[in-house]
Amino acid sequence: MKSKINTLNEKLNQAYLGGGQKRIDKQHEKKKLTARERVMYLLDEGSFEEIGTLVTHRTKDFGMESQQFYGDGVVTGYGTVNGRLVYVFAQDFTVFGGSLSETHAEKICKVMDLAVKVGAPIIGLNDSGGARIQEGVRSLGGYADIFYRNVQASGVIPQISAIMGPCAGGAVYSPAMTDFTIMVENTSYMFVTGPNVVKTVTNEEVSSEELGGASTHSTKSGVAHKTSSNDIECLEDVKKLLSYLPQNNKETPAPLSFELQEEVRESLSDIVPDNANKPYDMHDVISGIIDEDSFYEIHKDYAENILVGFARLGGKSIGIVANQPMFLAGVLDVNSSKKAARFVRFCDCFNIPLLVLEDVPGFLPGTDQEWNGIIVHGAKLLYAFSEATVPRVTVITRKAYGGAYDVMNSKHIGADMNFAWPSAEIAVMGAKGAAEIIFKNEINKAEDKEAKWKEKEAEYADLFANPYSAAERGFIDEVILPKDTRRKLIKAFSMLENKEVERPKRKHGNIPL
Ligand code: COA
Repeated sequence: MKSKINTLNEKLNQAYLGGGQKRIDKQHEKKKLTARERVMYLLDEGSFEEIGTLVTHRTKDFGMESQQFYGDGVVTGYGTVNGRLVYVFAQDFTVFGGSLSETHAEKICKVMDLAVKVGAPIIGLNDSGGARIQEGVRSLGGYADIFYRNVQASGVIPQISAIMGPCAGGAVYSPAMTDFTIMVENTSYMFVTGPNVVKTVTNEEVSSEELGGASTHSTKSGVAHKTSSNDIECLEDVKKLLSYLPQNNKETPAPLSFELQEEVRESLSDIVPDNANKPYDMHDVISGIIDEDSFYEIHKDYAENILVGFARLGGKSIGIVANQPMFLAGVLDVNSSKKAARFVRFCDCFNIPLLVLEDVPGFLPGTDQEWNGIIVHGAKLLYAFSEATVPRVTVITRKAYGGAYDVMNSKHIGADMNFAWPSAEIAVMGAKGAAEIIFKNEINKAEDKEAKWKEKEAEYADLFANPYSAAERGFIDEVILPKDTRRKLIKAFSMLENKEVERPKRKHGNIPL
């Protein structure tokens, strides 16, 4: 028995060395952790149980028979993060550059299948040279097996992708179909075709970083939901993100224990400026409402005219969608609509109540927006809110103009509680523009046109630049003092906790894509 145990230990030790010390050193030189180090850091100490440690590839071509590494370039298994079960796979760049073979894919599929059957999140730590070139179509088949499972798992268990090295070609489509993608700055990149192919096809000269680095995807494309400055920070980000999420779509996120106090926040009264054209930072409203330091912002540097992220309110997890008057006056445009719609749908999949903070002057006008399909993209957000069945509460802090009023979780599209601050202006458009259109003739005929315009602007503002017209119709449930917002929201979400909505049976809706 002793010799048999020794044989097993030898094999396991070999597996733990991945592609060997030399390649491990190379990985460290690039300021990257190895796959195993990443898994150990991510999971609670001593909780990792590996699956498929001794798997090897089956390729005989190109002299591959003599190049065997236990694990075949991916570490897979399960463990806990803050005591909660998760499944994980981490690609090992020290073995064939973490490239994906048929067996490598089978290992990933195995943990994905377990995660869905058991109902626990799956976390992928990506660091791979793509399809194992020596395996040809078998490797491509492996990718498709994973993509298919990503789709089956979508909306059933949370799926998180950390990009911690190369992720190119077909490989990008698995992270793209997961719920969140976090990229490590300077050491990771994602693209469908690399700089060399780009140069050949389009004659553009572009570096890997510029084409698909963390900064590109977090600011320009929106592919990355978050960036982290190194591997450790990235793994911490994954852990924090998990803390706001339930294990699966049948659960609600676990609340933190919280003792409710008076919950009056005087600071909220001084945020909205008297001048309606002056910006303010919606982050101040968010932090005035939520539990201290609990905002976990998603897509922070992308479409900054809207803020989305998770927070805690009285210890409970909520999703926040908020217009940001600091950027483009908080208008809705193509990118902000897509960003918010995706977030709303995630929250709805996983039973996370939605809070909307609204200060929106409308949709961004212009050929750029129209030609890029603002109609269809704006419709995504309208659709996402309308189909969401989680508790939904809106607070209008200032402007709620035009179609954007309807879109931003209005009563009419199924919001449960709609509050407005006394500073709210709920109208078809701003008073100045409105006066110019409906009193055009009167203004043109007047001797002092400017004075007449001002007079008519004031008349319109008097009627509509307030929350009372909407409150009289019940479109607003209550006009509240800013300082009471937190208290009102805690009570409203608590009242809505057992909300249930039955929808007509259908295969699935047809969201405008
Ligand atoms: N299939 C098989 N082996 C691969 C591989 C792949 N797709 N990508 C990398 N490797 C191997 C390399 O042969 C090398 O092996 P070695 O350690 O035995 O020398 C090892 O992984 C590391 O690769 P290397 O090129 O030395 O690392 P790098 O950091 O300089 O470059 C990449 C990384 C990903 C940019 C580069 O390896 C690459 O371009 N790979 C091919 C990408 C690709 O076209 N994939 C297929 C389409 S999806």
